[in-house]
Amino acid sequence: MITVRELSGLRELVREARSSGKSIGFVPTMGALHVGHLALVARARAECEFVVVSIFVNPLQFGPAEDFQRYPRRSEEDTQLLQKAGVDLLYMPDAATFYRQDFSTGIEVAGISEGGEGTMRPGHFRGVATVVAKLFLQVSPDVAYFGRKDLQQVAVVRRMIRDLDFPIRLVVADTVREPDGLAMSSRNVYLSPSERKRAASLPRALFAARDRVAQGERDAASLEQGTRTELEEAGLAVDYVEVVDATTMQRLPRVEPRAALTAAVRLGKTRLIDNVLLLQE
Ligand code: PAJ
Repeated sequence: MITVRELSGLRELVREARSSGKSIGFVPTMGALHVGHLALVARARAECEFVVVSIFVNPLQFGPAEDFQRYPRRSEEDTQLLQKAGVDLLYMPDAATFYRQDFSTGIEVAGISEGGEGTMRPGHFRGVATVVAKLFLQVSPDVAYFGRKDLQQVAVVRRMIRDLDFPIRLVVADTVREPDGLAMSSRNVYLSPSERKRAASLPRALFAARDRVAQGERDAASLEQGTRTELEEAGLAVDYVEVVDATTMQRLPRVEPRAALTAAVRLGKTRLIDNVLLLQE
């Protein structure tokens, strides 16, 4: 595995791979890698001949009161994990060179970026879309790998790829979970042992809703209310619980084939998000 920090080095190595006819797979990350990230990498490794992973904690997608400063940074461990996973190229740009001081361009994916996480984190998806577009242009992959854990992010990226004609195929991988159901996340390290135990109530409540759908429930308001009550009874502060169309992120009054139940909760200082597809999992 080769690690590069400069765009020129990245471009040269990707060009070389492409000219020898290799397909290029790309997994963008913010590091502090866990098994969820590594599942995306394994999928890219299985499907593409040249695998690029980026690690970049993107300041543009963090709000002023968010955890940019304390976001976990573990580049040595990450490098080892990616080396073992058979990655060809690790791209770790420096924040100072990635965004010039007077960087002033932004990608706005309207509509789909509002609601859900977009309401709770104003500007977040503008930051995500901007960095993902910039990384796509830098890496120019054939296939890009994203996790369904961040459902709205996937919807935003999918729409951006379509609207801007990026010649990139998007692959979405299922959420990887801990044995008690908690979705793996770099932010789980913030949880105290007692919060960590309570955190499992989030997937439990989502799975319970999915079970109700399997038994015939179709009313979104009833599912949302039932889930919210369960989360509150478990001592979690609920930011939102919503039944949405996983492609458009529009609220749905009734469960339909693409319906997902999405939720965000707070435990102490930590925010957790999760979702389940209500009819397909
Ligand atoms: P990050 O949170 O590091 O996640 C990188 C990728 O891993 C995302 O596509 C995310 O959905 C996926 N992922 C995270 N946890 C997962 C899990 N438990 N199971 C499956 N996939 C999981 O998402 C970002 O970084 C950033 O917003 C980024 C796209 C890199 C832009 O800065």
